[in-house]
Amino acid sequence: MDKVTLFEMGPRDGLQNEKKLIDTADKINLVDLLSDCGFSKIEVTSFVSPKWVPQMADAAEVLAGINRNPAIAYAALTPNLRGYEGAKAARADEVAIFASASEGFSQKNINCSIDESLERFAPVLAAAKADNIPVRGYVSCVTDCPYDGPTPPESTARVAKALYDMGCYEISLGDTIGAATPETTSLMLQAVQQHVPIAKLAGHFHDTHARALDNIEVCLGYGLRTFDAAVGGLGGCPYAPGAKGNVATEKVANLLHSKGFATGLDLERLAKASQFAQSLKG
Ligand code: HMG
Ligand code: MG
Repeated sequence: MDKVTLFEMGPRDGLQNEKKLIDTADKINLVDLLSDCGFSKIEVTSFVSPKWVPQMADAAEVLAGINRNPAIAYAALTPNLRGYEGAKAARADEVAIFASASEGFSQKNINCSIDESLERFAPVLAAAKADNIPVRGYVSCVTDCPYDGPTPPESTARVAKALYDMGCYEISLGDTIGAATPETTSLMLQAVQQHVPIAKLAGHFHDTHARALDNIEVCLGYGLRTFDAAVGGLGGCPYAPGAKGNVATEKVANLLHSKGFATGLDLERLAKASQFAQSLKG
């Protein structure tokens, strides 16, 4: 059976936008519940500026408190070398850098241009390589930007290629505001696949307009076999107004199972984790 990997985003992309500060113990409990569901990858937190994203200020405490399953890679976002050092000290199994395909979102999200962000990521990749820590690369706004409008497919391809050439093991293509359609998703993938092998691409869809599953089906047709999703459809991005949560993990799992793909996920345990995740929302 063809296998698809679901990269669970709930504790990071899901919770980062919550206005009410969530107790560290609850975040730890959520990760522990998710660790029983069969994931191989869970994004736990971000080592970003607490002034920018207060909800992620307890990144080190969360990583210190979880019960680690050795079969799972626990990941963290790292926007700069300082974040990387924090993630390494907290024993993140892998880290992720995040760039944007659009200038407007790059400025609003990480306070620099796209090219400046790529320069800032170079020392993170060098340090991670020396430490043998895998680095994932995100490209945001792959089809649409809340500030600049539609993103030309070539812009997404350029940034995806840059992150891949710098040494990211996988490029996650982010529809940050859930505005992609099957048509724009397809055009974007046509451009990106000319520079990055399909096997190194992941889809990261927010479900603002309930098109995430359709877009995932398009990606499956192109051969993508890794998707990001958040339990219970939690979340949104603090610097992308109107962005809703990631597509719900349970919805993606159901779609994949109905199409004959294996995910390795236990849907009953996932439902429990989803219930708990929902209870954390303000
Ligand atoms: P800046 O203000 O330009 O940088 O922020 P700075 O170097 O002047 O730092 C500002 C303050 O933050 C300073 O503190 C630094 O020390 C501190 P002060 O001196 O004022 O007291 N600082 C840090 N603290 C902790 N950890 C760090 C760190 N770095 C600096 N790593 C910066 C630039 C990149 C730091 C900031 O813009 C930032 O943290 N942005 C992160 C925003 C974010 O987390 N967004 C959400 C994640 S991205 C996303 O959701 C999209 C994704 O899901 C894919 C998709 O859907 O498209 C991945
Ligand atoms: Mg996201």
